[in-house]
Amino acid sequence: MLRRPLATETNEDFSEPILPGKGASDYERYLRTDDLLALQKSPEEQVHPDELLFQTVHQSSELWLKLGTSEVARATAHLRAGELAAALRLLGRAALCLQFTTRQLDMLERMSPWEYQTVRRVLGHGSGFDSPGFREVRRVTPPLGEAFEAAVAQEGLDLVEVYVQGRDHEELYQLAEALVEWDERITMWRIRHYKVVARIIGDQVVGTQGTPVEVLGKMIHHNFFPALWRARNQLTARAKDEEG
Ligand code: HEM
Repeated sequence: MLRRPLATETNEDFSEPILPGKGASDYERYLRTDDLLALQKSPEEQVHPDELLFQTVHQSSELWLKLGTSEVARATAHLRAGELAAALRLLGRAALCLQFTTRQLDMLERMSPWEYQTVRRVLGHGSGFDSPGFREVRRVTPPLGEAFEAAVAQEGLDLVEVYVQGRDHEELYQLAEALVEWDERITMWRIRHYKVVARIIGDQVVGTQGTPVEVLGKMIHHNFFPALWRARNQLTARAKDEEG
């Protein structure tokens, strides 16, 4: 009987790259590590070694936000097509992306507030308001809310009923919670970012684009899905009414 050769018996040289592109190995070619690792200032270009920390946190935040917002946009398309379970799967990933972005802020607090002043001098008018990742958060989030509300209306429900009758509408219930989680994680990022900013540059100064840090503190109260938060108040009022 013919036996297929085991992988260990073939003449294939696994150390040789087979993908097109720059880099000595397929790992480097597929991930484009040459380009990726050239995106941070070299030690000669840095005004302070902490620029590597600063750029790493910001650049990796942009990557996680790119993934997270892409998943939100895909989830919205699934919702519009009535594919609720597929939307849920992607929203779970998106929430994790925001969690990672928030967690990374811890690293910035390992910088000395005094030494950061040296880094700050080379940022020009650079400000987080121009972050492509957060611009995407602001762009993709409202359509997600609209697609969800349409799915709720299609079932002849309103948000309060999604919670009251949650057992009979499991996916809509889980989606409502996934949207609340997305909204809450944006706020958790804002709270954390506000504290980092206050700890590094102070809470009574203006940013590199002229925004008073106090304004960041006020943005913490913004909700993307106010109706979902209002529903909690309505549930509490309803429970009280039912108690008589
Ligand atoms: C030492 C670290 C940081 C400092 C001192 C800082 C400071 C500030 C300040 C002062 C503002 C107000 C706008 C202005 O510049 O005038 C701002 C806004 C913002 N920053 Fe940062 N930031 C830091 C890290 C980050 C990181 C890692 C991100 C991640 C992408 C980020 C994203 C944003 C965003 C999105 C805004 C707009 C506010 C919002 O949408 O809530 N920042 N930042």
